[in-house]
Amino acid sequence: MTNRTFTMIKPDAVGSGHIGAILAQINAGGFKIVAMKYTKLSEEKAGEFYAIHSARPFYGELVSFMSSGPIVAAIIEKENAVEDFRKLIGSTNPADAAPGTIRAKFAKNIGENAIHGSDSDENAAIESAFHFAGTEIFE
Ligand code: RTP
Ligand code: MG
Repeated sequence: MTNRTFTMIKPDAVGSGHIGAILAQINAGGFKIVAMKYTKLSEEKAGEFYAIHSARPFYGELVSFMSSGPIVAAIIEKENAVEDFRKLIGSTNPADAAPGTIRAKFAKNIGENAIHGSDSDENAAIESAFHFAGTEIFE
């Protein structure tokens, strides 16, 4: 699965009307969408998705933010997908994100930062399976 990663357009960016611009930038970056859905995480599901951060001080805020409104979840494909997509989205804190990156353009702050990108091939596979059945993925 080294050529795939998982992403979510987060509630802040959806609420600000940036779905189209962000998907266009993902496509322009050479990524092909192989699965996609417009959905909303319950608090329970958001907590499960970010369970790895459960000991962090921002966990409660993160879970309530991620369940505060609809998201766009997608699996995207490109050579070297995980690393290249992290470059396209930019640093977690938009103040540190390189100019032109998705977070530099659309994120509000370190918490409400517009988009998620998996941090490893292993997590890309786990996160993709969390959101999509095999029958919802198209080559
Ligand atoms: P993501 O998992 O969403 O792609 O973000 P990331 O790898 O760049 O950052 P990560 O360390 O995994 O943190 C996950 C999300 O938690 C929120 N966060 N808030 N208030 C804070 O200090 C803080 N730090 C992280 C962000 O929404 C971050 O994307
Ligand atoms: Mg992360």
